[in-house]
Amino acid sequence: MKRILVLLISTLFLTGCSVTGGKKIVRISHGQSETHPDHIGLLAFEKHIEDRLGDKYDIQIFPNELLGAAVKAIELTQTGAIDFVVCSTSNLETFDNIYEIFSMPYLFDSVDAYHATMENKEITDAIYKSTESSGFEAVTWFEAGTRNFYATKPIETPEDLKGMKIRVQQSPANVKMMSAFGAAAAPMSFGEVYTAIQQHVIDGAENNELALTNNKHGEVAKYYIYDRHQMVPDMLVGNLNFLNSLTPEERQIFDEAAEICTEAEREAWDKEIENAKQLAMDMGVNFKEVDTEAFKSKVVGVQEELMAGNEKLRPIFDRIQEINAQIGGGQVG
Ligand code: GCU
Repeated sequence: MKRILVLLISTLFLTGCSVTGGKKIVRISHGQSETHPDHIGLLAFEKHIEDRLGDKYDIQIFPNELLGAAVKAIELTQTGAIDFVVCSTSNLETFDNIYEIFSMPYLFDSVDAYHATMENKEITDAIYKSTESSGFEAVTWFEAGTRNFYATKPIETPEDLKGMKIRVQQSPANVKMMSAFGAAAAPMSFGEVYTAIQQHVIDGAENNELALTNNKHGEVAKYYIYDRHQMVPDMLVGNLNFLNSLTPEERQIFDEAAEICTEAEREAWDKEIENAKQLAMDMGVNFKEVDTEAFKSKVVGVQEELMAGNEKLRPIFDRIQEINAQIGGGQVG
């Protein structure tokens, strides 16, 4: 597998921005399977563009971390070896720390407040463009649910996390959050998590329910709790030189495709997530509601800690608090 990857990547580097049969190949990388909502969203992106610009662009989607795990794939997008990548905002923090906002635990009071924030261009425009100096920008976002803990042993209170080794995404803010929970943070890429749990290198991880089913983590971790500590979106990120090479008409079609793929991903998400809990229970996963406030009290201080170290965060945080107040708690996901 590693050898195929190295081969693929070196071919990409050699061919650079490849053109075959007069068409430019547009490569999109992501880390999920072909049945995951992210992939389904990208198929809609591909279709919209190829239906209109199929004589010029051949969109190729590479799932399953085939072109590398998130951080590697972002670097390839940065250099233009590939054109787009879907990655978690957590993985973008090291490119611009404005993305720490989404790693703040208990930032959103409800799924509706989260969605309203993501659809608010006044908030997201600056975030999307923040990585311009790194050679890429975000073009749209994908739903990635609410993140919760799951492990090989039961967790009922935040105290149970003490001494446990929990995988986090490769993000400084997530490491801070995990320390505040009292657990030992083990940063690693998504593709490594299954084996790490299976081999007891870690005690558990934290993610939405599709990690149990689509990524099969439910085979090796049987205890999932609803502490609802984060809602962390995925972003579709594009190489800036490529985006700037598009004519205004082409850019408009790519922008429409971005909007359409977000809708398609969300539709697929809503369907999959509805079935995921039952599917995971069939795998033997035990779901438990816990006292969310008890978990929140351990880490709510991380919000201030992050803002103290990063002046970009407070204005966005304050705006999100207004949205929280307008929309109210309600549906927490
Ligand atoms: C979710 C998210 C991915 C991310 C993964 C992770 O599945 O959609 O983009 O990589 O979590 O925890 O690494």
